[in-house]
Amino acid sequence: MNVDVLVIGAGAAGLMCAITAGQRGKRVLVVDHANKAGKKILMSGGGRCNFTNTGTTPANFLSANPHFAKSALARYTPWDFIALVEKHRIRYHEKELGQLFCDESSKLIVRMLLDECAAAGVQVETGCAVQRVRKAEHGFSAATALGEVQATSLVVATGGLSIPAMGATGFGYELARQFGHSVLPTRAGLVPLTQSGKHQERYSDLAGVALPVAEARVGKQGFRAGLLFTHRGISGPSILQISSYWQPGDDLRVDLSPDVDAAGWLAAQRAARPAAELKNVLADLLPKRLAQRLCELWFESRPMRQYREAELGEIGRQLHDWPIVASGTEGYRTAEVTLGGVDTDELSSSTMESRRVPGLYFIGEVVDVTGWLGGYNFQWAWASGHAAGEVVG
Ligand code: FDA
Repeated sequence: MNVDVLVIGAGAAGLMCAITAGQRGKRVLVVDHANKAGKKILMSGGGRCNFTNTGTTPANFLSANPHFAKSALARYTPWDFIALVEKHRIRYHEKELGQLFCDESSKLIVRMLLDECAAAGVQVETGCAVQRVRKAEHGFSAATALGEVQATSLVVATGGLSIPAMGATGFGYELARQFGHSVLPTRAGLVPLTQSGKHQERYSDLAGVALPVAEARVGKQGFRAGLLFTHRGISGPSILQISSYWQPGDDLRVDLSPDVDAAGWLAAQRAARPAAELKNVLADLLPKRLAQRLCELWFESRPMRQYREAELGEIGRQLHDWPIVASGTEGYRTAEVTLGGVDTDELSSSTMESRRVPGLYFIGEVVDVTGWLGGYNFQWAWASGHAAGEVVG
């Protein structure tokens, strides 16, 4: 079979690239070894797909080259994707901070992308593995379950390593290496953190206890959002966000009361209810079981009148700067994204084309560009897919 463009991976980036190229009149074939297109889209956002974030800027992404994502993000914005969603009459809502979710189901986003593919004459083949790819005289030749495919352009849109059960593989990284590209070390991102030994024992029975707002910090990076204790460690949006910046050995701190000056609040409580015990007072600031555990482990609980100003000041300071000793992450099994990947130094930031092999493109999560939690990763998939789709073939 001869095509202008062979896209490997029928996920977010691959389908967007295919649509854009198909609309330019290119003959496009998308192959995916999974039995369905867009499996990660289907499971995303708790089944409602947080498909973009209206506040997307390059600062919301991690990459060895923080400038790389700028061009593609500027040329395909959240508003472009919203226009597509509205064209297909998919209802959506803003959850928080610019995060847009489907009202009904992620299935509608996959349906929309496949309908756009069909309208643009794109052929999408699922359950179609690619055995090998080689450079041919004019483009590329790929051995697939459909037979040999000759293509002028090859687009690698195989995503990252997270959730192997959903079809994730390292095939894109292998192809990158095969064609002489560097692949920066990969690791799980947007992932719960685990604790071990005494650090785990201290809090594991708090599993299920949640703080609506905490601020997790590593170095200068901080995220203010919910925090959740789990059997194995900690999770919740603030922890998922900071997990992308945390590496084993890093000092992770959490402000358990970012919206209230804890020392001042405790001093006011001492004046208002001097006979109340600290653990009961703290239970008005923090979840009760956490307040009790902190008093068992760190702060001796006495009636408030027995604390000196300086002692309350110190308790307040600790509540704003609570150290969490994490031992690792839950890994790719539960991670939303993969950090690292195909080195951007060897790709064009405007087209995603390889600087080494003309006609070869890398888009989406396989590239060393990783977004924060909140719709940024799909926006990168749409934008990088669109950038390549405008020039492939
Ligand atoms: P994607 O993973 O979508 O697609 C890659 C495709 O390549 C897959 O279909 C796969 O089967 C295929 N493939 C892999 N190896 C292959 C091979 N050897 N041969 C053929 N095909 C192969 N982001 C966001 O912005 N908002 C959200 O709400 C969420 N929610 C979310 C929930 C969960 C549970 C996860 C795991 C992830 C998210 N994400 C997210 C992240 C988001 O899903 C992710 O960043 C994008 O899907 C990346 O798009 P890609 O097209 O690059 O890869």
